Amino acid sequence: MMMTRVFSGIQPSGNLTIGNYLGAMKNFVRLQHEADCLFCVVDLHAITVPQEPEALRENSRNLAALYIAAGIDPDKATVFIQSHVTAHAELGWILQCIAYYGELGRMTQFKDKSAQKEVVTAGLFTYPALMAADILLYQTGLVPVGEDQKQHLELTRDIAERFNNRFGQTFVVPEPYIPKFGGRIMSLENPEKKMSKSDESAGAYIAMLDEPDVIRKKISRAVTDSDREVRYDPDAKPAVSNLMTIYGMFTDMTMEQVEKHFAGQGYGPFKKELAEVVVDGLSPIQQRYRELIGSSEVDEVLRKGAQKAREMCAGTLADVKSKLGFVLA
Ligand code: TYM
Repeated sequence: MMMTRVFSGIQPSGNLTIGNYLGAMKNFVRLQHEADCLFCVVDLHAITVPQEPEALRENSRNLAALYIAAGIDPDKATVFIQSHVTAHAELGWILQCIAYYGELGRMTQFKDKSAQKEVVTAGLFTYPALMAADILLYQTGLVPVGEDQKQHLELTRDIAERFNNRFGQTFVVPEPYIPKFGGRIMSLENPEKKMSKSDESAGAYIAMLDEPDVIRKKISRAVTDSDREVRYDPDAKPAVSNLMTIYGMFTDMTMEQVEKHFAGQGYGPFKKELAEVVVDGLSPIQQRYRELIGSSEVDEVLRKGAQKAREMCAGTLADVKSKLGFVLA
């Protein structure tokens, strides 16, 4: 039996947060044992907004190191940089010509990211077509992502079905894999807002590489709700429920268990313990990351990963070109 193919990507835009970790990366690590996985550093996506060249180069390599530090085994999963495999840009263009202007305009992430910006690149608008290309190139069955990528996944499915209907069976239509808990970790300063690495206020997020004391400080300052009860109720107590979700995900405890554990204790002890749980959860990753970043291991993984990815997607790209009517080179 063929193993399920899994593909996902993260943008190398610096400061990955525990939202990225709990919503996506943690599942990458889990899935590598049961599926044939590709995990990509999506630098082509990163340049849809301005990037400092040296910072982009550094962030891309750092993200690859973080994938491995978080537990992705490069002997099991394929780790690579998107721009190393030119098929992504090629199929990305082709799918821009399959996607409709109207449907791209309905993407809430585009609306959010372009709102009040003086300069909005065309790439930011067509971004989901490139994301569809990433996924469809590998006949992906499952895409582990956070809640905010759900709409892009639906568009990917529509594009795949449209192409298949028009040109004959070409792409597997992928399913999203969104965790029930942790699919949307919220800001520590405003529980109505998603935790985001691009937040202007560093107090809103915990970066995966934040120092223990920084983590403790951010959690002690995190907003809470009016009463003093550690109770899971996302509607009435969004801030505390978010902190509880983080606690539960780092300890593998259910919300009921977390409630019981902190019954009658109030926010103070809860926050203190939460900080230690996050610090303990991240410290082995941080340690491994520091070892990796100075070694050539990452570069070797990326070289091999790109080579493997190229081989894995060549057939699909050739099939697409032939079906479209391109003269074969
Ligand atoms: P990016 O780089 O913004 O985020 C990487 C992953 O982290 C998840 N995530 C969150 N999950 C829970 N709570 C949060 N607060 C939170 N913030 C971010 C995201 O949902 C994502 O899974 N377009 C994608 C990258 C991409 C991709 C792909 C993903 C490009 N091609 C193909 C899957 C398949 C993005 O910008 O993710």
